[in-house]
Amino acid sequence: MKVLVHIDDAEGWREALAERLPEAEVFTSAAPAERRRQADYLAVWKPPEALLREPVALKGIVNLGAGVDALLNNPGLPKGVPIVKLRDAGMAELIGDYVRYGILHFQRDFDRYRRQQQDREWREHAVVDKADWPVGVLGLGAIGAKVAAMVAADGFPVHGWSRSPKSLDGITCHHGDAGLDALLERVRTLVLLLPDTPATRHIVDAGALARLPEGASLINPGRGSLVDEAALLEALGDGAVEGRLRGALLDAFPEEPLPDTSPLWTHSRVIITPHMAGPTPLGEALDQVAEALRAFAAGEPLETVDPGAGY
Ligand code: GLV
Repeated sequence: MKVLVHIDDAEGWREALAERLPEAEVFTSAAPAERRRQADYLAVWKPPEALLREPVALKGIVNLGAGVDALLNNPGLPKGVPIVKLRDAGMAELIGDYVRYGILHFQRDFDRYRRQQQDREWREHAVVDKADWPVGVLGLGAIGAKVAAMVAADGFPVHGWSRSPKSLDGITCHHGDAGLDALLERVRTLVLLLPDTPATRHIVDAGALARLPEGASLINPGRGSLVDEAALLEALGDGAVEGRLRGALLDAFPEEPLPDTSPLWTHSRVIITPHMAGPTPLGEALDQVAEALRAFAAGEPLETVDPGAGY
């Protein structure tokens, strides 16, 4: 089995994968073209188009991340080659911590205290009980489901939403268009963990934002395409007074890095982080990659990506 690895720090991944798969020949995209052409499998994150076109008899691709949008949108992606993606692989817990930080930021009024400090204003706000702070999680895949469970374990009522019906312990699950409206109407913090697909693009638009209760907050560690940025800015207001939307913690943007010219950088009710909510922890991810490659090679059934659905 010949495996080509392409990701930042590909050499580190190559070495660690070779240790887990002594039977395989593992090389990076720095290998000569002739060798790259012979790859049976690719283990890649955001590969260049040309790299995807090179292998002459590709049998499978492992996406070294949870979101497959970049890969599925790559024009060089060969048709019909099965794709496996990382599922959770330790990312969910990291994203869960990011989300918990964001919820507490708003529920315990850290956003207000930060602004008050600028005016040397000493004023305490009454705490809203966790029980009265429903949180909505859009997307109940491996990551969304775990994050929802972590937030519920903290004592917040959690509403989850997925396109098709799901049932999760301790989470009020909604689905479909009507379910989305019902969720939006009752949550004080909305968390976005949906994949980037044509069906989820701008799912948070002006209409969705208008359904949220006055003073709700938004956390997006998912994908930038989920949010209509103009509608978001409108809902946030000019920053001087709290708008319909109290604030946003954003980790994902339609264009990354977020362009210098984006008004989000300087908005006083927005916190920007550089797509750091869920870095892929090497250990668990490599175990999944090795397992997927072994299953591919042995012809065992694998949970593959549905390119039509986009995840
Ligand atoms: C990161 O955004 C990922 O999809 O793994």
